[in-house]
Order: sequence, then structure tokens, then C-alpha cells
Amino acid sequence: MTRKPMMAGNWKMNKTVGEAVVLAQDISNQFKGTWEACDVVVCPPFVDLKPAYTVFEFDRVPISVGAQNVYWEESGAYTGEISVPMLKEIGCEWCIIGHSERRGYFGETNEDVNKKAKALLAGGLKPIICCGESLEVRDAGDTLEFVCAQVRAAFAGIDAAQAVKCVVAYEPIWAIGTGRTATPEQAQEVCLAIRETLAELFGAESADAMRVLYGGSMNPGNVDMLIAQPDIDGGLIGGAALKAPSFVQLIEACI
Ligand code: PGA
Repeated sequence: MTRKPMMAGNWKMNKTVGEAVVLAQDISNQFKGTWEACDVVVCPPFVDLKPAYTVFEFDRVPISVGAQNVYWEESGAYTGEISVPMLKEIGCEWCIIGHSERRGYFGETNEDVNKKAKALLAGGLKPIICCGESLEVRDAGDTLEFVCAQVRAAFAGIDAAQAVKCVVAYEPIWAIGTGRTATPEQAQEVCLAIRETLAELFGAESADAMRVLYGGSMNPGNVDMLIAQPDIDGGLIGGAALKAPSFVQLIEACI
């Protein structure tokens, strides 16, 4: 099974609207037809979604836009939250959920991630489901058990037909923003265990069709070794997605 690679830029809480338009334009200007062999996604802050989408739409480049979070209710008295229909209307196709920063700083639980995944799928958006262990969990030798439990919890009550629309991003917490990347072997070991868990849940054929990304200090210097691994289908990129040249290099490494 050949899976289409994916490069998703997680801009986190960076870029005002003006700055986001400049970065989106910089990426768009370097678009080449060969990029169509890779799903290219940028995930800016909420306020930048529509402006970034508009840049890509105007330039007619197949670069998708994704949010970094969502709430599972459609509307109502949930001050400060953003719903799936709101994201859908402004052209969002993807949404990151369960990022370790949301779990760590904002108390997002496995149950929340599952509710968000179901709401996104019901509303026609595709979740990028993040999982990953802390250094304590790794040092205790519990990585595979911990990460696979996160994956099982995220997909609870979701059937194979819906699951295949999802992407899983393995992001060891100790590698995020630290410059300390997982070795290709460490990343492959966990991505394979994730795929085996997906196979248990949804069957081998579905698991084979699903993308599993690596994230955590991925950059132009280490991308080749990482995506050469059989179970790593691309990256979820933080720091290196904030500048067009490095993000473009990462995309081009995938094709
Ligand atoms: P990083 O972030 O590439 O800056 O390590 C990755 C992420 O958190 O998605």
C-alpha cells in the first residue's frame, strides 16, 4: 500500500493576520505541480485561517488549511470556543486535536479528544489526532503501551469508514520544540505500534491506508531519515513550518 505523504505545519500561537498572509503567500509562491504528490496543510491560529485559506484559493494552489483545536458542540453558550461548522464554512479541511500542549496546558483529556474526533468527522472535517509520551513514560519503558492507549481512546466508537479519514501524529513530548528529535528507529517503533493498534481496531486494510505522521523537531536536516521509515508517512511540523524555505524543503523531501 502506498500512502500519500502529508506535511502539516502547526503554526501554534504564532503569526498575526498580516504575518500569516505573508507566510501563506511565501509558501504559495513556491508551489510546484510535484507537490500534488503530498498533502500539504497549514494550521494557523483561528483568526488566520480564513486569510490563509483565501491566499491559497486566490492562487489556486492545492494547499489545505487546518485548525489547531475545536469544540465538539455545534453552537451555544461556550464562551471562547469555536465549532466544527464555523471551521467548515471558512474552508478548513483538517483539525489538529489532542496536541500535547493542549493536553498539558489546557487539560485536554483522551475523552475530549474522542469527542472532538467524532464531532469533526460528523461535520465533514478530518482530524489529525496527536499522541505521544513524556520523558518519564519513555524512561519507565511504557511508551508503546501509553501511546497505543491514547490511540484507542481517541478512536473509541468510531468505525473503520470514518477512521480512514483520520491522520495520527506521533509526537514524543520530549522532542517537541527541543531540538531533540527521536531517532528514526525510535519513531518507527512507535509509528509501527500505532499502525498495529489501528489494525486491531479497524482491520489491516484500513490501517494500511491511514497516515501516521511523526512530529517533534523535524527539520530539513533530519526529515529524510525519518520519512524513509516504512510507517512514517510525513510530518507535523512546528518551528520549521514558520518559515517558508524550511517548510518547502520538508514538503519536497516527501515527494
Ligand atoms: P516542533 O513542534 O516541530 O517545533 O518540535 C511540533 C509540534 O508540536 O507539532
